[in-house]
Amino acid sequence: MCGIVGYVGRADGVIGGNGTGHQALDVVLEGLRRLEYRGYDSAGVAVVTAGRIESRKKSGKLTNLLAELSENPLPDALTGIGHTRWATHGGPTDSNAHPHLADGGRLALIHNGIIENFAELKTELVSAGHTFISDTDTEVAAALLGNIYRSLSEEGDLDVALPRAMQLACQRLEGAFTLLAVHADQPGVVVAARRNSPLVVGLGDGENFLGSDVSGFIDYTRRAVELGQDQIVTITPDTVDITDFHGAPAEGKEYHVDWDAAAAKKDGYPSFMEKEIHDQPDAVAQTLLGRSDLEGRLTLDEIRIDPEELKEVNKIIVLACGTSAYAGQVAKYAIEHWCRIPTEVELSHEFRYRDPIVDANTLIVSLSQSGETMDTLMAVRYAREQGAKTVAICNTNGSTIPRESDAVLYTHAGPEIAVASTKAFLAQITAAYLLGLYLAQLRGNKFQGEIKDILADLAKTPDKIQQILDNSGQIKDLARSMSESRSVLFLGRHVGFPVAMEGALKLKELAYIHAEGFAAGELKHGPIALIEEGQPVFVVVPSPRGRNSLHAKVVSNIQEVRARGAKTIVIAEEGDEAVRAYAEHVFYIPETPPLLAPLLATVPLQIFACELATAKGYDVDQPRNLAKSVTVE
Ligand code: G6P
Repeated sequence: MCGIVGYVGRADGVIGGNGTGHQALDVVLEGLRRLEYRGYDSAGVAVVTAGRIESRKKSGKLTNLLAELSENPLPDALTGIGHTRWATHGGPTDSNAHPHLADGGRLALIHNGIIENFAELKTELVSAGHTFISDTDTEVAAALLGNIYRSLSEEGDLDVALPRAMQLACQRLEGAFTLLAVHADQPGVVVAARRNSPLVVGLGDGENFLGSDVSGFIDYTRRAVELGQDQIVTITPDTVDITDFHGAPAEGKEYHVDWDAAAAKKDGYPSFMEKEIHDQPDAVAQTLLGRSDLEGRLTLDEIRIDPEELKEVNKIIVLACGTSAYAGQVAKYAIEHWCRIPTEVELSHEFRYRDPIVDANTLIVSLSQSGETMDTLMAVRYAREQGAKTVAICNTNGSTIPRESDAVLYTHAGPEIAVASTKAFLAQITAAYLLGLYLAQLRGNKFQGEIKDILADLAKTPDKIQQILDNSGQIKDLARSMSESRSVLFLGRHVGFPVAMEGALKLKELAYIHAEGFAAGELKHGPIALIEEGQPVFVVVPSPRGRNSLHAKVVSNIQEVRARGAKTIVIAEEGDEAVRAYAEHVFYIPETPPLLAPLLATVPLQIFACELATAKGYDVDQPRNLAKSVTVE
């Protein structure tokens, strides 16, 4: 939520070691392009040059800012900051866009998060004679910082005035924030602060970077530094100084970013969404890679929780939001089945407000693509305070949730840029299955041979996903023919139920069509009243194979809606001829054990939503009103 970039380079022409140097504006705009998935209500930049600040900002997507910059270019500069916004305080207008200026236009500030005590601070500043031109909490923070800076700089050492002013300002701010500030008095310096909001440092050669995440500077460096909570960092071309909010020196943890910059590009696909749907065989394969030996023994070295403690776990609570929560719902079926540990799945934002029963024998499994979702972070913190053990399943190296958890199991899906999640979903299910199997192995719930067989089936899924992708023409044709639909229902049972809900969510997010996912068995208890002539209904049908198959029951559900006029679209396993008679359209997925079917059945639903939204002319990468990484509660 809100993307932030900062840059300082050296003026001697050897920046980056290649003798070419970087223009601050180029670096900042490239970073914003990559971070735009975090919010796209407005964008703005500021550079420091020739003893002054120059800023441009524009409501709407980054392209609007680019148009503004070509009409009103910025001068050359070696220091700059940039922001792409997801509006919280104040609508998406030019004046509410960041940066916000203070200290007579000599200081520029950008912000991600919410300053909770902004009203009180604003009253104080207004009484002191300050006038505000925007509706934002950020402008209040800028004014506060500007005032503090002014009095400090009048008193003494200009070199330390900005970091010191940031410390004092942060001591007064409540809420969640990442702040980046530049001042005209100090070209070659960017000062940043973070509390409960993401910020990473990128280390260059004669240049340094700041970003909401590493994609903000991945084109320039792979060396990153994690910052802790309540820290301030001051970057110059050659130095990175970290302190706490009171000026005490602090250390950051350096790590190598193993994402390939090219992986964050579209690779010839028309959208990131399409690329990421096609990345899925690889996302699942990479997540499985290196996590078991030839005997099928899982070796999850990352799970640094004492195995004896894991054996004592008597309850698992999965915490997540959005698509990740549906991945959690899928995982529940497998974990309970394999480990025989009661498993709940809870939306993170509901969890801590219901006085949940959590103790030292509870294992919290958080699922988060970004690792920054504030609701999930707060829920994990709460659970840790209650003594629970916490494992994060996360796609973003060095992000906050894994850092604040006892252990992390990374999904290796690569950067997910499209706002609505696809490949991270499949990778999360895969990782959660590995965790479930690991617990089953540890606790002796499954024979090693059984675990080996399940892992062998999992290893076959990437090829099966690829088959679905290679044969997606039929589902795309159907999607285009349904672009005028006003409502689409999705039914599923067992693991097919969360798949149905994820299918509905994708359609809501991408195509702005009313869509609902239901448990097929629940249909007769109410939702069937929605069925009228022509109502499209997707049905995720389980495999007819196996002793406990729900196949016959789901086929009855198809007949029930069809008898009432529904247009039925069925996702079924190859060879399931029984469904043909009841379906207007059938999409076959390869055979797979029932618990692994979500890794396949979800794919046609993603393709359907993406193609339908594209046919309607919508931007599938940046759907309206959404942000990828929601860092406010
Ligand atoms: C936002 C995104 C969703 C995502 C959810 C959880 O709402 O728009 O696509 O599923 O956050 O994100 P996380 O990063 O925690 O998985």
